[in-house]
Amino acid sequence: MPDATINPARLNRSLDELGRIGDTPDGMQRMAFTPADLAGREYAMSLMRRAGMEIRVDPGGNIIARKAGSGFGLPAIAMGSHTDTVPNGGKYDGALGVMGAIEVAQALADQNLSLKHPVEVLVFTNEEGTRFHRWLFGSRAMAGLLEADDLTAVGDEGVRLSARLTDIGGDMSRVQQAGRSPDELAAYFELHIEQGPSLHQGGTPIGVVTGITGRWVFGVEITGTANHAGTTPMSARQDALVSASRLVLGVQHLASGLEICRVGTVGNLQIYPNTVNVIPGRVSLGVEFRDLDMGALSAAEEEFRRRAAQIAEADGVTIAVKRFENTQSVPIKSQMQELVAAAAARTGLAYQRLPSGAGHDAQAMAAITDAAMIFVPSVDGVSHAPGEYSTPEDCANGAQVLMNLLLLADERL
Ligand code: HGY
Ligand code: MN
Ligand code: MN
Repeated sequence: MPDATINPARLNRSLDELGRIGDTPDGMQRMAFTPADLAGREYAMSLMRRAGMEIRVDPGGNIIARKAGSGFGLPAIAMGSHTDTVPNGGKYDGALGVMGAIEVAQALADQNLSLKHPVEVLVFTNEEGTRFHRWLFGSRAMAGLLEADDLTAVGDEGVRLSARLTDIGGDMSRVQQAGRSPDELAAYFELHIEQGPSLHQGGTPIGVVTGITGRWVFGVEITGTANHAGTTPMSARQDALVSASRLVLGVQHLASGLEICRVGTVGNLQIYPNTVNVIPGRVSLGVEFRDLDMGALSAAEEEFRRRAAQIAEADGVTIAVKRFENTQSVPIKSQMQELVAAAAARTGLAYQRLPSGAGHDAQAMAAITDAAMIFVPSVDGVSHAPGEYSTPEDCANGAQVLMNLLLLADERL
């Protein structure tokens, strides 16, 4: 197997450059389809061109950069991630996987190394899904996993996802054509920050991901009675926010008290009319549950719906629960885990196996090809927040393991 080394300084310069696109004092605002997202995608494509790659954008808006292989008719080995962020997000979630993959391609070009397999670098559309409740959109389009709700999705501002897709070169009317067959790809590798505390706490530089969590997302509408805050007796109220508060604590109790599933979160809540002297008549909130065990998520949904009905009955409000997303958990095949472990060992780095509590494009791509993930430490486990940080050394370690994983896969797959 040939030796090839990535350029740590160039990688960290590109991470810093991408980290300036959409950066604000409150963190990264490079949400999918915003001008900052478009600028981030343009920046990634400029680096792909510099690495001598052929670029196309598929109907799902995914950027596919490709470098031919020396073999004849071999499937491609793909590497990638996403460049969109959550609101007030960090500079490494997704960005490391894209900049790392581009750095690997650039290092191969610099060293005049071409592999037997074609190599692809992928940038997936709207991985976070925060604006349309349709996360992993691009990777699910490529994996043929889109549902009817994806095609008709309307964002919180009332804009259709299909309109925003056109902004980035996609085309919802042809989105099924983004689907790829298993024989086009030999494997998909994703370098990513852990987004949790394990590697940093343990002082371990590399994580070999063993599985990626399942995630169920619900939209909840609580309808009570808006009324005068001063003249309405306490006994005559249907206060939607009081009921919502009971439901929020119910979500926390379900995960941390009853331990029905690993985590449960209410991340967004809107109050109507949201003014201090009116009893809230309506509250809408987003709820998500995560676990590697899909049975635990079913049990969580059952308990959640039971609790919601109980609160509605007791408080005299109506509570409507709608399932937005249900993403399956995905195990990483043991031979793919072994490949990542061998790449880490070849890089001279210690590693530990661990599951991912975050969702990733790899869990969609696993539907059409063998997927594997490399984690690097997140300092103090902070992510999806401005304080998200991974050291330049850890980022470079991850990219070098990605390089060696690619070289090993080229030899062995
Ligand atoms: O939410 C997640 O798990 C991922 O960061 N999109
Ligand atoms: Mn991510
Ligand atoms: Mn994320």
